[in-house]
Amino acid sequence: MQTQTIATQPIEGQKPGTSGLRKKTRVFMGPHYLENYVQAIFDGIGGVAGKSLVLGGDGRYFNDRAAQVILRMAAASGAARLIVGQGALLSTPAASHLIRSRGTDGGLILSASHNPGGPEADFGLKYNTPNGGPAPEGVTDRIFAATRTITEYRILEAQDVDLSTPGEARLGEMVVEVVDPVADYAALMETLFDFDAIAAMFARGFTLRFDAMHAVTGPYAKAILETRLGAAPGSVINAVPLPDFGQGHPDPNPIWAKPLVDLMLGESAPDFGAASDGDGDRNMILGRGIYVTPSDSLALLAAQAHLAPGYAGGLKGVARSMPTSGAVDRVAAALGIDCYETPTGWKFFGNLLDAGRATLCGEESAGTGSDHVREKDGLWAVLLWLNILAATGKPVKALMEDHCAQYGRNYYRRHDYEDVEADRANALYDALRAKLSALPGQSFGPLMVKTADEFSYDDPVDGSHSAAQGLRIGFAGGSRVVFRLSGTGTVGATIRVYLERVETDPARLTLDPATALADVAAAAEAIAGIKAHTGREAPDVIT
Ligand code: G1P
Ligand code: ZN
Repeated sequence: MQTQTIATQPIEGQKPGTSGLRKKTRVFMGPHYLENYVQAIFDGIGGVAGKSLVLGGDGRYFNDRAAQVILRMAAASGAARLIVGQGALLSTPAASHLIRSRGTDGGLILSASHNPGGPEADFGLKYNTPNGGPAPEGVTDRIFAATRTITEYRILEAQDVDLSTPGEARLGEMVVEVVDPVADYAALMETLFDFDAIAAMFARGFTLRFDAMHAVTGPYAKAILETRLGAAPGSVINAVPLPDFGQGHPDPNPIWAKPLVDLMLGESAPDFGAASDGDGDRNMILGRGIYVTPSDSLALLAAQAHLAPGYAGGLKGVARSMPTSGAVDRVAAALGIDCYETPTGWKFFGNLLDAGRATLCGEESAGTGSDHVREKDGLWAVLLWLNILAATGKPVKALMEDHCAQYGRNYYRRHDYEDVEADRANALYDALRAKLSALPGQSFGPLMVKTADEFSYDDPVDGSHSAAQGLRIGFAGGSRVVFRLSGTGTVGATIRVYLERVETDPARLTLDPATALADVAAAAEAIAGIKAHTGREAPDVIT
């Protein structure tokens, strides 16, 4: 087998975003595009000679081909061992766990998360560091710098490696170890949760619907929920990963998982409903007659995690991304533990988890996780909920009502304006930033602005500074609106507007969220002029 050195030149725009590099699949499939980026990752992390890496992805279109290219490039650059999920599949949390449990030098995950898949849809690639977490900005900056100076890449001339069965093979000097993508992850879950109590709950007739959305969590959910825990066969639906996710949008929210929401809010709802995204790190939680917002889910899990064996000793602290609601803050205050507010993106939790400062973390975008891995973890969140339901014997709705009665309620919604012309989105954002300092003291309807600033973050562990992480406007009484531009899109710009209102009056804990947030939404429009800037009458997606 021969190593080829291919001359190339920098390709514009290979800048990793909130979570790795995401582009249209056809862009990734273009000449040298994937190869340039993979070589830049290798160069950005100081080469891969003698190193071991984990490799897998969410099974979307081009996943299999990209995996073969990466294997040949790793072999050509002298990697010692690549641990690959069977069929080149690994959920993001399972990949994180493998990197940690096998002590590798990191891993490459092929995924564009919840973005659609297919030749006309999206593809992505991210590098995770040896702690199992997404590369921090220092590393992604080096990778990006390498994409701008690249002149050649190395690749082995070889046939495809058979990834269809577990076992070891050689590619040149490199060992390719194909592993069952589910086994190690399922074993980890068993150490955290009371599987016997959950199984007993299913044996008593507890009913579940888990929508894997034709994405990577299907095999994990089948193996754990149905086979191991005894949920009725068929409880896990859309369980076979498809390259185009069944032409769906594998994003577990009330828009894209509407059939599940309709089922859970309807007459014949099972006891518990959940869904996960393309690469298995997001989750959506529902009970009979109730949708639990991700921010509320984080708060409830923080309050009740001690009921699961893995968290019986209590939590060291909690962390949430800045736009995530403050519901978990009040739980942390009651527990007497620290609550950290980080920029958007899981990579900002890594240091807190590594340093033992936080045990649970969460984002409003359906991400929840703990220190068991260094990624958010959809199925983990489902299992923690099931453990809490088994331990308390209460339905989801009653648990949430009790929680709100004790801590109050943070009404919360996110309005997304998608595929806005980048110039228009930037104009809105820049104009808003420019007027922030003049806002305090001004009133918009019944709301008076108390604080307005651009969020920046000083990492308490390594001292790194992250500027320009979103514009936030706080009103007297605790309501809030946050504006951000998405860092994961592949076309145009997405403006995210996060609305929040805190309510502690027992008589007002069961309002419709849209009604509860109407004043905050009106203030957001009055302050930012969203309609005028975007030409849109309403958001494209509300979650
Ligand atoms: C979005 C979410 C963010 C999440 C990221 C990756 O990023 O808002 O919370 O960490 O996807 O799943 P955004 O598009 O807002 O930059
Ligand atoms: Zn994801």
